[in-house]
Amino acid sequence: MIRTFNEYGMLGHNTFGMDVKARLFVEYDSVADLEEVFASGICKGMKTFHIGGGSNVLFTADYDGAVLHSAIKGIEVERETDDEVVLSVGSGVVWDDFVAYCVEHSWWGVENLSLIPGEVGASAVQNIGAYGAEAKDVITEVETFDTDSLCRRTFRNDECEYAYRNSFFKRNRNYIVTRVHYRLGKHPAPRLDYGNIRTALGDMQPTAANIRNVVIEIRKSKLPDPAVTGNGGSFFMNPVVSREKYEALAEQYPGMPHYVTDGGVKIPAGWMIEQCGWKGKSLGRAGVHDKQALVLVNLGGASGREVLALCDAVRHDVLQKFGIEIFPEVNVL
Ligand code: EPU
Repeated sequence: MIRTFNEYGMLGHNTFGMDVKARLFVEYDSVADLEEVFASGICKGMKTFHIGGGSNVLFTADYDGAVLHSAIKGIEVERETDDEVVLSVGSGVVWDDFVAYCVEHSWWGVENLSLIPGEVGASAVQNIGAYGAEAKDVITEVETFDTDSLCRRTFRNDECEYAYRNSFFKRNRNYIVTRVHYRLGKHPAPRLDYGNIRTALGDMQPTAANIRNVVIEIRKSKLPDPAVTGNGGSFFMNPVVSREKYEALAEQYPGMPHYVTDGGVKIPAGWMIEQCGWKGKSLGRAGVHDKQALVLVNLGGASGREVLALCDAVRHDVLQKFGIEIFPEVNVL
């Protein structure tokens, strides 16, 4: 089924809590419905934006176009051996419902990604990640619909051009993700080395369920609940700088947290924002979260433009102090 709504209020579809309208909102239940949306021309002449759980988007004004949303559901076992299981999951499944399902079955691979807001489709676009795990580590294939050619296309993992919070789909918005295939392991494979997961587990067995519970506790303690305080999770991506740049900074700021990656050295933007004195501070009704400076929050009634003004002020100060440009992870519309 296809459901369309004109001048649709987006308040329930964005975790920043922006009370804006979309000229048209279109929700579909299947790939066939999505094909029909484009064949029928209901979005013709309009710009379009595909939304998931709305946890990674900042609306700065009413959206003068069509917002699309997948309600493709279902978690199906595609194939299974004694060692692993491959699941086919609809893009409209709530990500954390999928994680809970895997953990209940003691299937390993996504437990560190517990409680990340959003939906399965976005996991493949955004390559969501937390606590040493990324969606790309478990994705085998991504099914899409190309709104330019009106054809379906399935991408193998190695065709998705995955990188830190990036993918082919993020750069080519004409591909709408309809289903994602994930490979989960059946043998215990706990990843405990990131942050304080091991410490938080204490004497508990590192089962998938215990890891999930610990990750949920850590996230709840650091990240604001969007039902209470509007936010879009990490507002900025962590920048990766050259080895030389890192060494120069490390001399100036001994003990600066950093992670060595393939492309250079990743510096936590949250740390730099805190060093700039922004943690817990606000500009108008938009604020920098007091427990995690990477998160910008709506302190109540903030407009998207107010959040954007704060974003610009923070970026300016980080550039001035560290000579590093940081970029939003959140889609600004
Ligand atoms: N830090 C500070 N001050 C802050 C925040 C962080 O000094 O206000 C320091 C921490 O002490 C730590 C380092 O920065 O040394 C990294 O902090 P943290 O482990 O909290 O992670 P992050 O790099 O700030 C990333 C993800 C999060 C994810 C966490 C945990 C991005 C953009 N964000 O944040 O993802 O939960 O790691 O794996 O990569 C999200 O994408 O919405 C998100 C919440």
